[in-house]
Amino acid sequence: MTTLVLCGATGDLAGRYLYPALTRLADAGELPDEFRMRGVSREELTDEEFKEHLRTALDEHAPQSPRAAREELAARCEYIRADVTDTDGMKAATERAEGPCVIYLALPPSLYQPAVRSLAKAGPPTGSSVVFEKPFAEGQESARELNGMLAECLAEERVFRVDHFLNKQTVQNILGLRFANRLFEPVWNAGHIERVDIVWDEDLTLEGRAGYYDQTGALRDMVQNHLLQLLCLIAMDPPHSLHERELRDRKVQLLRAVRGPSAAEAAEGDGAVRARYTAGTVAGRKVPDYTDEPGVDPARGTETYAELRLAVDNWRWAGVPFLLRTGKALGEPRTAIDIRFKPVPHLAFGQSGGAVPNLLRLSLDPERIDATINLNGAGDPFELESAQLGLELAPQRLPAYARLLLDIFRGDPSLTIRGDEAEECWRVVDPVLAAWENGRAPLPGYPAGSAGPSAA
Ligand code: BG6
Repeated sequence: MTTLVLCGATGDLAGRYLYPALTRLADAGELPDEFRMRGVSREELTDEEFKEHLRTALDEHAPQSPRAAREELAARCEYIRADVTDTDGMKAATERAEGPCVIYLALPPSLYQPAVRSLAKAGPPTGSSVVFEKPFAEGQESARELNGMLAECLAEERVFRVDHFLNKQTVQNILGLRFANRLFEPVWNAGHIERVDIVWDEDLTLEGRAGYYDQTGALRDMVQNHLLQLLCLIAMDPPHSLHERELRDRKVQLLRAVRGPSAAEAAEGDGAVRARYTAGTVAGRKVPDYTDEPGVDPARGTETYAELRLAVDNWRWAGVPFLLRTGKALGEPRTAIDIRFKPVPHLAFGQSGGAVPNLLRLSLDPERIDATINLNGAGDPFELESAQLGLELAPQRLPAYARLLLDIFRGDPSLTIRGDEAEECWRVVDPVLAAWENGRAPLPGYPAGSAGPSAA
């Protein structure tokens, strides 16, 4: 790969994640030697104006990045004005590229089908790959259609459906923790685990992303992809190798056993809660009501908080609830997976023992692993005290998006989503989306800066 064709080059995703990641790669000397980037969007810009746009985005999202790395990236860029949902536009974006391209669609999911249609007609340069941001499509049906269209013009190993959570170091650590220790796997089942909570509470608000977020909402933005991926790594069976096919087969096998609320249950708020933030204060910053944010259409009823209770119908997990939750503008940011163990079957210390069930917490940002264990206290030997074992993990050398880009440049899809996997993820959330879109489920407000809706 020598040319990155970045469609959506003036959008939020490119500025917030991709340019900072490319600059980190330039700084680390890890950009491929012949690397060139073509920024593509519908805006009328010259090459120089696009480079200025890039520098401004880096000032905002990666202010600490070294000047030399930024200038190296700018020097390797050119700009093409094109509408890639149109065949001529896609041709203009990809023609005269030296060698195979990576065509990165940093576009809203509603544009994926038209973009793939024009790609199929234009004919991608031989050996090229296409990258889709999450969410891949808008539901199970549209994911199936999109996969069908892709199968006609590209081999599956050339399709990268990215989920940057899989490139987070702590997320990858779940594999090491579970499958390289004897300590955990024997108790990693319904016999010992009471429940699992996967929580991604953010204090971030809309941050000027209405164009994308207001059509997406928390369930599609976070739960359908990032949080279900975390569930896969926590609950899947041990793979025999970390080969791409083996890893993704294990995840799909797990997803097939996942049961979410039906549309009727979701409409009653049974196993699914949605909500939207109202005006408030987050970390000393005044936040307007979500519906007053520029670009938001209140009639869409977009949720900024989503919570799902899922079951995994297999021998290992029968009866264990998995709670997936995420929200924006929450008072206390917390990103963690809590594995709550059952109480011991018998406690010789009597009721006054003070024992608490073990809790294993994998904190994702900052990255830590903590375990609550029971020990005899320092005083009365028959009294128990709970103690914490904690481990702070070294920060990730390269951010998730930089690692993800390196994998794509090297052509390794192991840490991306396979077509059938994306469809399974939609199968889990589609009934909830249907109930929410019908306006059948309540959409309560929660003040920005609070702990979320009371139904949570
Ligand atoms: C993105 C979502 O994919 O992930 C955002 O669109 C969310 O809404 C973000 O804030 C969280 O991931 P990170 O890596 O930026 O903490």
